[in-house]
Amino acid sequence: MKITRQLFLFLVFLWTTKAFSHLTPIPTEHFLLHETLDHLGNYHVFWKFNKTHITFEVHVKTRGYVGFGISPNGKMYPSDVVVGWVKDGVPHLSDMHTVGHFQPVNDTSQDWTLLHGQENNFGTVLKFERPLTTCDNNDTDIVDATMRIIFSYHPDDPTDDNLMPWHGATRRGAKSMMLLSTSKQYKLPNDSQTKDLVHHQFNVPTKRTTYQCRVYSLDDITTKHHVIKFEAVIQKDHEPFVHHMNIYKCHNYPRKYIGTNFECYTGSLDMMPCGNVVAGWAVGSG
Ligand SMILES: *[C@@H]1O[C@H](CO)[C@@H](O)[C@H](O)[C@H]1NC(C)=O
Ligand SMILES: *[C@@H]1O[C@H](CO)[C@@H](O)[C@H](O)[C@H]1NC(C)=O
Ligand SMILES: *[C@@H]1O[C@H](CO)[C@@H](O)[C@H](O)[C@H]1NC(C)=O
Ligand SMILES: *[C@@H]1O[C@H](CO)[C@@H](O)[C@H](O)[C@H]1NC(C)=O
Repeated sequence: MKITRQLFLFLVFLWTTKAFSHLTPIPTEHFLLHETLDHLGNYHVFWKFNKTHITFEVHVKTRGYVGFGISPNGKMYPSDVVVGWVKDGVPHLSDMHTVGHFQPVNDTSQDWTLLHGQENNFGTVLKFERPLTTCDNNDTDIVDATMRIIFSYHPDDPTDDNLMPWHGATRRGAKSMMLLSTSKQYKLPNDSQTKDLVHHQFNVPTKRTTYQCRVYSLDDITTKHHVIKFEAVIQKDHEPFVHHMNIYKCHNYPRKYIGTNFECYTGSLDMMPCGNVVAGWAVGSG
């Protein structure tokens, strides 16, 4: 069985991310789940969940306010948001929703519980929890599916609770995430083997989109095995460049291509990816 894998890469950001150092802030407790929401490493979210509740801890490089929310389409409106900040050592947090592309309004039912807030060397830390399902129409249920998380931050605290300066076009964004995915918590059986199929030292070209292929042989697995888990392997800080990956199972693929790296769909006909997809991964699939 030979396998090819494709990458589809966005290049525009390649050099901008390299200029920043990526210090990961230290959470107040051990969280299994952690994501950086922006390319600059300014907005980190740690989280955990059980059957009924979810707890987030955001660490944001700012001394001002921080917004975090769930949106059906990745835009600010409509969305379910929580906004908080720390002023004179006192944390503030409000459960809100948007009614347009401007300052959100309070929910009548305040369903987030603020657990902790502080400013530290990294910036602002806010820890808050909520039931996965509230009975508030202005809250979005948190479910086991890809959800669009939105974020914003500003260097200043609101002048009062009801006047928030606009975060601006750069201090905001959206990321597709599977908040309740348990795959990262799944323990593999003790007799399982893992194999990394990686593109070794591949230079991303300067055009916008590249489909990159590589052919692997699994000749060393000689008896029947079950594939029980796939996981994306992406080098740290290279996340912005990888859009999706597919693994194809190929019969009768020319052996001479094993170990070669090439741009998919540009070589000879016998180098085409075979139609048999055994695994796929895309941004936001967790
Ligand atoms: C789930 O988490 C919530 C909030 O942290 C906690 O109050 C609750 O007891 C937990 N439930 C279980 C079954 O552990
Ligand atoms: C929103 O709720 C916060 C408390 O969570 C309160 O301090 C603030 O005044 C409220 N804002 C409005 C516009 O009602
Ligand atoms: C939800 O928000 C809208 C718009 O702000 C408001 O009119 C409505 O009363 C809210 N619903 C609940 C259940 O609070
Ligand atoms: C793996 O786990 C099984 C039980 O699930 C146990 O019997 C076996 O000894 C373990 N093998 C190793 C190498 O730990």
